[in-house]
Amino acid sequence: MAVSTSYRLLHVNIVNSVERRHMWRCWRRLSRRQRRYVSLLVVALFLAAMFTFLMQFKQDAQRESSPSANSQFQPVSNSGIADAFRKHKLGERSISSGSTGFGSVEGRQHTSKTKPNETPKSPTLPRRIRFPGAENDRQRAVVVAFKHAWSGYRRYAWGYDHLRPLTRSGGNWLGLGLTLVDSLDTMLIMGLDKEFEEARDWVAHSLNFTANKYVNLFETTIRVLGGLLSVHHISGDRMFLDKAVDLGHRLLPAFETRTGIPLSDVNLGAGKARGPAWVGDSTTAEVSTLQLEMNQLSHVSGLAEFSRRAMNVSRSLHRLVKGWATTPAGALLPIFISPRDARPRSSAPVTLGARGDSYYEYLLKVFAQLGEPAAFMRDDFERAMQHVYEYLLRRTHHSRLTFIGELSSASQRRFSPKMDHLVCFLPGTLALAVRLGLDRRHMIVAEQLLHTCYLTYQRQPTGLAAEITHFRLDNSSTDFYVKKADSHCLLRPETVESLWYLYHLTANSTYQDWGWRIFEAIERHARVPSGGYASLSNVMDVHNVGQRDSMESFFTAETLKYLYLLFSDDQSTLNLNDFVFNSEAHPLPVLRNQDLTSLNLEIDHSVYI
Ligand SMILES: *[C@@H]1O[C@H](CO)[C@@H](O)[C@H](O)[C@H]1NC(C)=O
Ligand SMILES: *[C@@H]1O[C@H](CO)[C@@H](O)[C@H](O)[C@H]1NC(C)=O
Ligand SMILES: *[C@@H]1O[C@H](CO)[C@@H](O)[C@H](O)[C@H]1NC(C)=O
Ligand SMILES: *[C@@H]1O[C@H](CO)[C@@H](O)[C@H](O)[C@H]1NC(C)=O
Repeated sequence: MAVSTSYRLLHVNIVNSVERRHMWRCWRRLSRRQRRYVSLLVVALFLAAMFTFLMQFKQDAQRESSPSANSQFQPVSNSGIADAFRKHKLGERSISSGSTGFGSVEGRQHTSKTKPNETPKSPTLPRRIRFPGAENDRQRAVVVAFKHAWSGYRRYAWGYDHLRPLTRSGGNWLGLGLTLVDSLDTMLIMGLDKEFEEARDWVAHSLNFTANKYVNLFETTIRVLGGLLSVHHISGDRMFLDKAVDLGHRLLPAFETRTGIPLSDVNLGAGKARGPAWVGDSTTAEVSTLQLEMNQLSHVSGLAEFSRRAMNVSRSLHRLVKGWATTPAGALLPIFISPRDARPRSSAPVTLGARGDSYYEYLLKVFAQLGEPAAFMRDDFERAMQHVYEYLLRRTHHSRLTFIGELSSASQRRFSPKMDHLVCFLPGTLALAVRLGLDRRHMIVAEQLLHTCYLTYQRQPTGLAAEITHFRLDNSSTDFYVKKADSHCLLRPETVESLWYLYHLTANSTYQDWGWRIFEAIERHARVPSGGYASLSNVMDVHNVGQRDSMESFFTAETLKYLYLLFSDDQSTLNLNDFVFNSEAHPLPVLRNQDLTSLNLEIDHSVYI
């Protein structure tokens, strides 16, 4: 990077000096009057440029002080569906509430809470979104939990990907300080400025992407790139953007395939990419869960390349779904797809759980981020949900619990009544769909499915849900059971994530109470006294939960963040007009029409045919 930049500078300098000599010769050949005209012209152009700049600056300032003023979703919240829904469901509360966005936005001066003896790290912050800090006992309890998790990580695993809380050490996977980068925006949202500043220094001085090592494209994108972009947006600190742009360039080799469908692994240091040796196919959810991050990166860097590569994948998948619709699984894709010919592997399962989940999530969320240029994704989402309801949604015999099963292969459509905990993202995404103006009936499914997700916690002796639950369609006296091999719990976020969406959009405090019970169960069984929280081996046995020596980065990035947001009294401190959360709970801004021009989106009208 550095090398090529200095070459470019050298080149520019030489060209400039040649041009300067040439211009001087021309100037001397002009008459005095001609020279005066040219001078006047230059001055006039300069004044016009200044004027345009000032007007632009003024508009920007106005936009910042009222971020939702020209929201692209204004029409949606005024539409018949949204209004009817609001009256029907929300009572006094308004969905968009005309709020000032995510906390308050500070002006250009650095009037932060930093103490006088601390020197501000970045004196020219363009803006910083401020959060009020914990407002009630439940939120304070979540902050205490975060600090406890952080104290373990800070003491025993600083700079490592994960805390190993039982052996009090650190573990690596991607080797990118995963827990630290993933938790930065959580700290700002919780008002933990001291912890944030310390972590920021680590990112500034110790995080680099030069290791000669393969990392998973999807995980690196949602956790590291998403984390950096989100914290850049919230803090206004340019250092995070520079890191994000560096990382973004190093992810691009994964897209160098004939079809543009990326390979699963990329070597950030060596600039190479490869697929998994065992199959050669890419995972559907992985190739389709990069777009929010790449679009935001293009928006803030002005480099359209990232967005172009990622949206190309979405368009390819869209074409695929259209051609695929005649097959048994309809708009649902199997979990593997070939980067060589962009064909789905029809013998692979169809699921909204592992390897399928966030394909559906990002269909909707990219539409939430971009609006009309991603309308084809909203349409795919709508069709996919119809096929989910038709092929995958069932009710148990015993108490009519709604769940989402799987197809063991796309070509045969054999139903399997098992549901990953991961599927519990769906209620939140369905609620967001209604919020964005899609069919109101999604809300009914969202409520019913979220109730089932909650019961997968509540009906276990520990109050925590297993990784996979099997449902009963026969006339037995229970609704579901868990196999021993699936009885572990990684403290995953999906259920509390959906609880937050549903609470945020309905103000029904039942969802807060459910979340509180889940939080209490986490405290009871997963807390490690010396610092941190442990994953569990068995949620079915209160006396032998089998704490595991690992704290996942999504526990602090997502689970605790969503719990904190769920318990917030003032839900307008965050609103879905202005933010879209990526798959790792990193809030990114919804892009307005004027932002979209920087993406240079090639709106391909053939996708609508
Ligand atoms: C990148 O980080 C690693 C680990 O912190 C360090 O050993 C290495 O020297 C750094 N490389 C550069 C180019 O800064
Ligand atoms: C995506 O990129 C590939 C490779 O550059 C190209 O062949 C393909 O036509 C593109 N697909 C779409 C849908 O734009
Ligand atoms: C369940 O159904 C089977 C066959 O359909 C029947 O033989 C059995 O008696 C039923 N059991 C109960 C508890 O209803
Ligand atoms: C709140 O949500 C719960 C669970 O979905 C539901 O049983 C209850 O009726 C809801 N309350 C209101 C006032 O809508």
